[in-house]
Amino acid sequence: MEQRERLSAIWSATVEKLKEVVREYEVTEDELHLAGDFLNRLGASGMCRSLLDVGLAMTSIDVHAKRETGTRANLTGPYHREHPMKPDGKLAETDIPPDAPLLILTGTVKDAVTGKAISNAEIDAWHADHNGIYDLEGTHLRGVVRADENGDYCIQTILPHDYSEHDHDPIGELFRAMGRTNIRAAHIHLKVRTGDTLRLTTQIFMSTSKSLKTDYVEGAVSDDLTVALERDASVADQVTYRGRFDILL
Ligand SMILES: [Fe+2]
Repeated sequence: MEQRERLSAIWSATVEKLKEVVREYEVTEDELHLAGDFLNRLGASGMCRSLLDVGLAMTSIDVHAKRETGTRANLTGPYHREHPMKPDGKLAETDIPPDAPLLILTGTVKDAVTGKAISNAEIDAWHADHNGIYDLEGTHLRGVVRADENGDYCIQTILPHDYSEHDHDPIGELFRAMGRTNIRAAHIHLKVRTGDTLRLTTQIFMSTSKSLKTDYVEGAVSDDLTVALERDASVADQVTYRGRFDILL
């Protein structure tokens, strides 16, 4: 379909779907104008793209998934950048505070169809800290970890925490008005490469999060992307969790 025809078809389908909403909820003209005012504020704040990501991007990612097997893809999010190799698998670059739980994440990179291990994949990981804060200046809790020749990898880091986004822009305003949170469930972002090829972009979620059921990014959290974490009772001096996540390419 030509781009002009495709745009026209998508616009018509969108209007038809929204007409159904107007009929179902008997939306008034005043309410339409309130929505228009909101969209004006949203545009002025530069957050239109983010709201579309929150509401619809996961549906688009799922629709375009090239295969039915393999680890589910997920949003890149706004915080990725170039990361250094971390040969020892440790992502932290500063002393870890004693109140920050540690996380040891292990797994194997495998072929999704054959189940065979894939050697030497590069796992590019980044995540928020134990207070839900990303390092936006440096590369703390960010790095590329290489799986070994058996496909096994080990990432040692701080257990990420849930974080709130868009508290001070119209997206936060919308979610507050609905009585919902604008909180992301604790997660680690991953990009997995073999050679020069990017094979997977995803997010994996921590079972310790209290926001798995309410993550405000529509459709982002799924059971297959949630890592079951267990407290390691053998580590006495700092709370330590262990989890396993196999990456299927
Ligand atoms: Fe994130």
